Amino acid sequence: MRTNKKEAGAADFTFEGKRVSFPVYEGSRGERALDISALRRETGLVTYDPGLVNTGICSSDITFVDGEKGLVLHRGCNIEDLAEQCMFLEVAYLLIMGKLPTLDEQSKFSSLMNEHSLIHEDMQHFFRNYPEHAHPMAVLSAMVVSLSSFYPEMDTESVTERIDNTVARLLSKVRTLAAFSYKKFIGEPFVYPSYKLRYCENFLNMMFSSPVHDYIIDPVVEKALNLFLILHADHEQNCSTTVVRTVGSSGANLYASISAGICALWGPLHGGANQAVIEMLDTIHESGDSVAKVIQAAKSKDSKIRLMGFGHRIYKAYDPRARIAKKACKSLLEHLRLSDPLLDIAVELEEAALRDPYFQEKNLYPNVDFYTGIAYRAMGIPSNMFTVIFAIGRLPGWIAQWLENSRDAEQKLMRPRQIYTGIAQQVFVNTKDR
Ligand code: ACO
Repeated sequence: MRTNKKEAGAADFTFEGKRVSFPVYEGSRGERALDISALRRETGLVTYDPGLVNTGICSSDITFVDGEKGLVLHRGCNIEDLAEQCMFLEVAYLLIMGKLPTLDEQSKFSSLMNEHSLIHEDMQHFFRNYPEHAHPMAVLSAMVVSLSSFYPEMDTESVTERIDNTVARLLSKVRTLAAFSYKKFIGEPFVYPSYKLRYCENFLNMMFSSPVHDYIIDPVVEKALNLFLILHADHEQNCSTTVVRTVGSSGANLYASISAGICALWGPLHGGANQAVIEMLDTIHESGDSVAKVIQAAKSKDSKIRLMGFGHRIYKAYDPRARIAKKACKSLLEHLRLSDPLLDIAVELEEAALRDPYFQEKNLYPNVDFYTGIAYRAMGIPSNMFTVIFAIGRLPGWIAQWLENSRDAEQKLMRPRQIYTGIAQQVFVNTKDR
């Protein structure tokens, strides 16, 4: 049930002698927004907000993040409770359907996941023709948009009518596509999904079993993967989700919108940071550079280096997902009896950064990507698959946000404005006279 935003007063604005009043809305957690939809009509002005730092693009019932307090709620439920007590599919159901599933709903949803887990056999040809060592994110994005050719019935209308099928198909197939993209990368035969296995077990099995050896699924590893997927499941209007909403606003289908979201997630400033963190820690380890030297480089205005896995557009406090990820990462390594020098470097780096006035003044804390890569490494997942895991986790959020956008009567084609700063006018010169 959508909780509508409430009108909470108005703000007056005067420009060139004209006074205009804009409504102020308030959300269910007290955050307020100025509605400037009449700004250009009334004043001729547009807003200028690079990076959309101050811009709310929608009202949403799905996720609430309070970056000052370090709070994440999905449909009102605390991320800590969900991470500790839920299976990933329950959280996916919560985000997409708006409520936690009953046991019966859960079992039906799992059966649907199983039913839809295979991908069309013809899609395997695509995998075969990718160059050796194609990045799995490139493959995943292309494969997801290709699903629209293999399952064309899934247009906007059918999403509304047969939501369970559509959602299960996408959640299930993306997991299979992700595992196949890894097998392609390492040149091993694809392993099909099994009806006997749960969501995360199935993924691990498709990644790691092969005709020449079985993969024994460790329940602790499965639990850890389940937890990391939950931590990534949604994070309101982040870069990739905004892309998914934007592409969807043109009327493009769900597959196309999510494929675009996967590309946005790939960048190192967003989901690609988990791979970048490990590369950074590895470089420190290999070079023997001191943590102090790295911190100094990240602070320097002259260098382009940033401390990867640190900082966030929204958090001005410790990201609660990072706290959970750090704890889970440490217990996973203990369980596996692994000692990873990169974990020691990460802990040292975090402690040094949190003591440093530069990071303190700018409120820079570890984000969700800082520790996850170390845990994935311990599971045997290679670094170029880290962002793929993030994409599997973020999928329910993208689907929920896409659906909400397509059902929101206030939403329109996303089409921002600009301030044109090019040549005001010039005389056209023919080729022969240039
Ligand atoms: N290391 C060093 N300095 C940093 C870092 C960092 N990781 N992050 C921000 N800063 C500094 C900036 O240099 C800037 O300093 P200035 O004001 O002196 O110019 C200030 O903090 C503010 O940074 P912005 O880039 O303006 O903040 P923004 O909100 O745009 O950036 C971002 C957020 C992109 C996440 C940034 O913190 C960053 O690049 N972090 C590293 C990459 C990363 O971990 N990304 C994953 C984010 S989580 C996710 O998407 C799942």
